[in-house]
Amino acid sequence: LRFEVSILEKLSLFLDDKRVKHSLKVALVAKKLAKIYGIDEEKAYSAGLLHDIAKTQNLESLAEKKIKINSELKKIYQEYPQIWHAFVGPLIIKKEFKVNDKNILNAVKWHTTGKAKMTTLEKILFVADYIEPGREFKDIKIIQKIAYTNINLAVYILASKTVMHLLEKGQKIHGSIINCRNYYINVLGKKNIYDTTNKLFKSNFN
Ligand SMILES: [Fe+2]
Ligand SMILES: [Fe+2]
Repeated sequence: LRFEVSILEKLSLFLDDKRVKHSLKVALVAKKLAKIYGIDEEKAYSAGLLHDIAKTQNLESLAEKKIKINSELKKIYQEYPQIWHAFVGPLIIKKEFKVNDKNILNAVKWHTTGKAKMTTLEKILFVADYIEPGREFKDIKIIQKIAYTNINLAVYILASKTVMHLLEKGQKIHGSIINCRNYYINVLGKKNIYDTTNKLFKSNFN
């Protein structure tokens, strides 16, 4: 599996400079996490490079590429325009990059919402997208540390933060992120969740 060079060369055909840089940073973080959690580093790197590939696409640009989308994807396009790129990404990756690795495709698909019972690569990409060094938000330093020691806890924290952010902005919340958060609450257990919530989210509830 040595996709990286050809992926990198093609990336700028789909993404502007800023997004290419973001994708590179996510790829590097994903690779580091892959090493720590014992999965294929090159796959993680490739998934990072490709994760936002559909970010500038729309229904017309897909039609031009002869990529057909089903009614489920059309519905997501209308209901959740910000996260649609994750669900449509795998179609572009298969067609334009000839990458058919299920693990990579699924990691891209779930990188915005997460879901219950993710594979290690799915968790890594979900987390890497939030914690790449260009990101700035409250408690990011702590969350970066947690990502390298307890990936499930990082998933829980980031899913919770996303839900809170969407609530604050009055936006719809995709069911998968709720399922994701619930699932990792069960995985982590009450004590872990209680301690983390007290430490990181207290101000949000006071
Ligand atoms: Fe994304
Ligand atoms: Fe991203």
